[in-house]
Amino acid sequence: MGFSKNFIWGTATAAYQIEGGWNEDGKGPNIWDDFVHQPGKVEDNCTGDVACDHYHRYKDDVKLMKQMGVNAYRFSISWSRIIPDGIGKVNQKGIDFYNNLIDELLKNDIIPYVTLYHWDLPSALYLKGGWLNPESADWFEYYAKVVAENFGDKIKNFITFNEPSVFLGCGYLIGEHPPCFKLGSKDLLLAGCNILRSHGRAVKILKENNPDCIVGITLATQPLIPVAKENEQEAYDSYFTCGLGYFIWTMSFWMDPIKFGKFPKQLLDEAGDLFPKISEEDMKLINQKIDFLGINIYEAKYAGNFTRAPGAAHTEVHWDIYPDALKWGVKLNQKRYELPIYITENGMSAHDWVSLDGKVHDPNRIDFLHRYIKGLRDAADEGCDIRGYFHWSLMDNFEWSKGYNPRFGLIYINYETQERILKDSAYWFKSVIESNGDNL
Ligand code: NOJ
Repeated sequence: MGFSKNFIWGTATAAYQIEGGWNEDGKGPNIWDDFVHQPGKVEDNCTGDVACDHYHRYKDDVKLMKQMGVNAYRFSISWSRIIPDGIGKVNQKGIDFYNNLIDELLKNDIIPYVTLYHWDLPSALYLKGGWLNPESADWFEYYAKVVAENFGDKIKNFITFNEPSVFLGCGYLIGEHPPCFKLGSKDLLLAGCNILRSHGRAVKILKENNPDCIVGITLATQPLIPVAKENEQEAYDSYFTCGLGYFIWTMSFWMDPIKFGKFPKQLLDEAGDLFPKISEEDMKLINQKIDFLGINIYEAKYAGNFTRAPGAAHTEVHWDIYPDALKWGVKLNQKRYELPIYITENGMSAHDWVSLDGKVHDPNRIDFLHRYIKGLRDAADEGCDIRGYFHWSLMDNFEWSKGYNPRFGLIYINYETQERILKDSAYWFKSVIESNGDNL
């Protein structure tokens, strides 16, 4: 059976991680600009000021995508590039940049998939309280409206948020990402609910602008892999459990209200008065129909007490490798949420460098992808509705507080010269696309 005929084979990036041009052409600052300019926050004090200089080199980058044979590209819009203060005045030069990028993609038959929020909150909105402020839903609705009005005739596919668990968890709980807060459950629940309210408002605006557009959300997840048939129910039950101590990291905190219109009961019971009031109208918006669920999967865990052997395979950033991660991520989530699924991110960082022959050989990445995507095809063979696979990332880029050492790209970037080199894995990925995954 394999992947469907119209399967989407794409690569993914995010604005702050690749664009550079951090203060050009009227762009306003965002919380990542502010964070990286404080010494000691990011490894080697790296910044995204220039990053991959995609802001100036987008045409070359689209050419490379074309060369790799991808039929889609997932990227995010920098909110403060198009609305410098997050609300209010629109920056025409920012709009022009994205219009040019989108035109270039369409000219090359590459379908744009746009993420509205990939972690780079405008600084002006941080000063107003960021996601802790209930008004954030109004701000996000306005931003979505500006996006819909300016790009809605050319873009059909939207993702409202990328990995809310991670930007809330790392930014508001652990404090390693901006705004570097270490908050308690009450505030975390409030911010989480505001993000969900913002999601609902954006879905409404995007659909009002174009009822045929396709809207989803992207969540990060580590699936629980059952080690035997008898474990499957146990894996399912514990994967979707949602308690107060860890709700941020679960699928069900985010997806249950979106799909079922209610939060997990265990969480509500444990939170009691800590849970913010959500009006019926807000819940209705949160609970609006979405068209797909996007999942980002890198790692997984085994259900039960099964542990990995010492020395088992892991990547350059020490993430454990679980070849069946995509397969179970799809199976578990489709069973519960009954939505078409896109893998909106998957990939690995490796110790890539340019060999004496001038090429970048990355056999580990090829083997990793071979195993993971084959697992994904198994899920398709079992009848799961999988619409596409986006590799993270198109090119090496700024890996947040880890700077530029982790290299996740199919394209190697020389950060001194900005030279781009297609890694072996890029050519391999092209062959997978050409066979629609049949050669795996
Ligand atoms: C998740 C994030 O969406 C992306 O920004 C990040 O670079 C990759 N995964 C790898 O960590």
